[in-house]
Amino acid sequence: MVNYIGTATPRVDGRAKVTGEAKYAGEFSAPGLAYGSVVESTIPKGRIARIDTSEALRVEGVLDVLTHEKRPRMAHTDDAYKDETAPEEGSPFRPLYDDRIRFSGQPIALVLAEEWEIARYAASLVRIEYEKQAFVTNLYKQRDEAFVVKKPHKPRGNVKKAYAAAHVSHEAEYFIPTEHHNPMELFASTVMWEGGGKLTVYDKTQGVQNVQRYLCSVFNKKADDLRVISPFVGGAFGSGLRPQYQVVLAVLGTLALKRSVRLVLTRQQMYGLGYRPATIERLALGAKADGTLDAITHEAIAVTSQFEDFSRNDTGWAALLYKSANAKYVHRLARLDVPTSSDMRAPGAATGVYALESAMDELAVALKLDPIELRLRCYSDRDQNEDVPYTSKQLRECYRQGAEAFGWDKRKPEPRSMRDGSELVGWGMATGVWEALQMPVAARIVLTANGHAEVSCAASDIGTGTYTIMAQVAADTLGLPLENITIKLGDSTLPQAPVEGGSWMAASASHAVATTAKEVRKELLALAKAVKDSPLAGAKLEGVVLTEGKVVSKHDTGRAVSIADAMRHGAIDRIEKEKTNSFPDDSSHARNTHSAVFVEVKVDEQLGVIRVTRVVSAIAAGRILNTQTAHSQIIGSVVGGIGMALHEETQFDHRFGRIMNANIAEYHVPVNADVRDIKVIFVDEPDDIINPLGIKGLGEIGIVGVAAAIANAVYHATGKRVRDLPITLDKLQR
Ligand code: MOS
Repeated sequence: MVNYIGTATPRVDGRAKVTGEAKYAGEFSAPGLAYGSVVESTIPKGRIARIDTSEALRVEGVLDVLTHEKRPRMAHTDDAYKDETAPEEGSPFRPLYDDRIRFSGQPIALVLAEEWEIARYAASLVRIEYEKQAFVTNLYKQRDEAFVVKKPHKPRGNVKKAYAAAHVSHEAEYFIPTEHHNPMELFASTVMWEGGGKLTVYDKTQGVQNVQRYLCSVFNKKADDLRVISPFVGGAFGSGLRPQYQVVLAVLGTLALKRSVRLVLTRQQMYGLGYRPATIERLALGAKADGTLDAITHEAIAVTSQFEDFSRNDTGWAALLYKSANAKYVHRLARLDVPTSSDMRAPGAATGVYALESAMDELAVALKLDPIELRLRCYSDRDQNEDVPYTSKQLRECYRQGAEAFGWDKRKPEPRSMRDGSELVGWGMATGVWEALQMPVAARIVLTANGHAEVSCAASDIGTGTYTIMAQVAADTLGLPLENITIKLGDSTLPQAPVEGGSWMAASASHAVATTAKEVRKELLALAKAVKDSPLAGAKLEGVVLTEGKVVSKHDTGRAVSIADAMRHGAIDRIEKEKTNSFPDDSSHARNTHSAVFVEVKVDEQLGVIRVTRVVSAIAAGRILNTQTAHSQIIGSVVGGIGMALHEETQFDHRFGRIMNANIAEYHVPVNADVRDIKVIFVDEPDDIINPLGIKGLGEIGIVGVAAAIANAVYHATGKRVRDLPITLDKLQR
């Protein structure tokens, strides 16, 4: 029996990607394709008093210039602009809708031309006069105006009293700056004018059906008339969860010209989209003399726009990790004149757990306890927010195996006590936690008599390996070799799927495939039993398996009917089934993934340069579908964590309300030279409650805790506690 699940299976789309055969949204073409270029606002708040497009229109090759004054019709209700990932509260941004300026970098005109260069040049000739208004882009200026977001996490006990009575306590404020996703692929849409009112939209997105519903509602189109396709995505990190403005503009352009239009944003323009919100986190921890926690206060103040309330769970994570009878969490939002913040790389957890795990390290220092020992003393076997046990939680094993692989027992506890030549050596650790979510996903399987199966679903593969794991599950559940499986994804006409995000797609899509495969097996068995003198007469579904292209009795492998024979006898040449996954939707268990991250840094004592020389990430995330793609996901996430800790920061000039480093020369991300030795351990975590295959999903868990582990290692190396990210060398000197 073939068994692909759990193996290191190379990406089935790897070849297409490295040969350039895989096409991305900005690479599709059509005869007569026109090109768009966006004009952005240079002020953060006010009105467009006058917009003069005459000079741009005179450029040879320019086809049209669209503005709020001159554009095809768009919907005029807030509801029409709410996509499946839009914040509940507020009114989504509508590009080119009216004369109001809500943020710097807002699209205010779209130039359409025969060539991209012409469009871009003409865009520089559009003249705008603004009526400026007072604005604020600095979170610290607005923190006192921040309002409380209603969150379900209930307070426990009397935290004030417990904190006052604590034997040892620690209170501090931590800061995470605004960060931008910066995926490799630029946001792009190519909209094909199909005639007869039909459009095909190639879009960079994490969810084609989400974009389809959104565009249909904004442009009052029927679902059959607007198809959205996104076979490959060059990274997104959450930026592709919501439909972005370029897809709206590309459709507007197509409707205006009645021609196909391609619009690719520049790197700089991508800083006018969503971002990880700058967040101030305040932690107050109180411990008893025995080193157990008795009081936790976690407060966060995060950025959102003036027009939508975006927030994620920053503050509730302590209740999943650490026992404490008394706890209180408060999440506030501050409105700034910027675009709405958005999901980015483990939203809420990457930031909230950074603060929590930094504070835990500081508490361990105050208690003179090993940081792992403190975490073990506070270890919680229940989710205290909901007071329920976990479907599985092998975090203890993460600590144990991670520490062993890292060599943690050789750590000298005193800061500045370990050296390597002229460099200070620091060892730090932190815990990571994320959700193991599942969403409704449908899959269609078409099995043909030659033993080939095509599996299709609207889900996107944002680079995470969805094609590959779906092929593995299909191969195993249909008993076919991997080469006999074709996966089709990223097309709104395929069976329903939500956006790919939240690390929920692997578990969700796998079970959609497994559920549908069961229906295929049922039908095949019925056909096999109907074969004359069938060796499987009387066999039950549970009593047979599909293997090597045959329906085989589990009890007697000699009793078998091939797929080809079964279909021939039934006079059919294919079986087609479509089913939606199902999963227990009860609240009797918490579903989470966990990690323990160990980091070594080396710090040049004179210059303050910090290098992350070693990382060990021990992950507990249920059954691992593909050890190779899973490993790659965690490596990528750890690199994201290095960026968060040491490099990434979107910097504003608050006098102008504009981003100063809107490019990847000055917005620093880790490069190869910043990435040394990263070891990933997958801890065995059987889970027969969460779903039949025991899958939890990966990706985001790999970043949570990394920034704290690095910050803790920097403290251990230098004796200097930097509480505002990124930890740049100047901060070590101050
Ligand atoms: Mo993720 S931030 O849900 O793409």
